[in-house]
Amino acid sequence: MENHEQAQVAVYPGTFDPITKGHIDIIGRALRLFQNVVVAVAPNPSKVPLFDIDERIDMIRQATQEFSNVSVETFPGLLIHYMRKRKAVAIIRGIRAISDFEYEFQMALMNRKLDRHVETVFLMPSEKYTYLSSSLIKEVASYGGEISDLVPEIVSAKMAEKAALKKSQSTTRKP
Ligand code: COA
Repeated sequence: MENHEQAQVAVYPGTFDPITKGHIDIIGRALRLFQNVVVAVAPNPSKVPLFDIDERIDMIRQATQEFSNVSVETFPGLLIHYMRKRKAVAIIRGIRAISDFEYEFQMALMNRKLDRHVETVFLMPSEKYTYLSSSLIKEVASYGGEISDLVPEIVSAKMAEKAALKKSQSTTRKP
């Protein structure tokens, strides 16, 4: 089959702890360029995630229901190995500010060194999401701040559940 006849699969990798509206914005933009987008959730234990991998996948699935041609999976090990397994042609990454660039540039070049056939495509989210990050969302939510405009509904609900659980655990632990 000729290249142009193949379904063009792009992989959007990340930790997504949790997914935000900024990530959703990037997925929407990627779908304008590629026929299929696979959201690939990295276990990333070095970040000590708040949500385990199944919770993160489940939230992304629910938050991307509006899109056809989006699938959500996890991948062990190197992204580039997973790219080959999925026969994907591009890695999607969001660039929010110049400060993202150095780290992203390093990763893109390392991935290219590992497989010269894979391109990294950088997309900019809507400017209303440029200050967003998953860590900021977690911090604001942990102090009872309002995050519902910034994350999908399912994420707001799950974050509220986590906060309630933490509160009940801390009260039961008191002597
Ligand atoms: N909207 C909101 N937030 C965004 C965003 C957007 N559009 N784009 C990025 N971010 C935030 C994320 O929420 C995250 O915030 P946090 O640090 O507060 O959690 C941060 O920007 C960047 O994280 P993320 O996009 O999740 O990427 P990452 O840097 O955690 O993940 C991997 C990087 C998973 C892609 C990379 O580590 C990887 O490929 N791992 C597999 C192993 C491998 O192949 N390593 C070699 C790589 S060269």
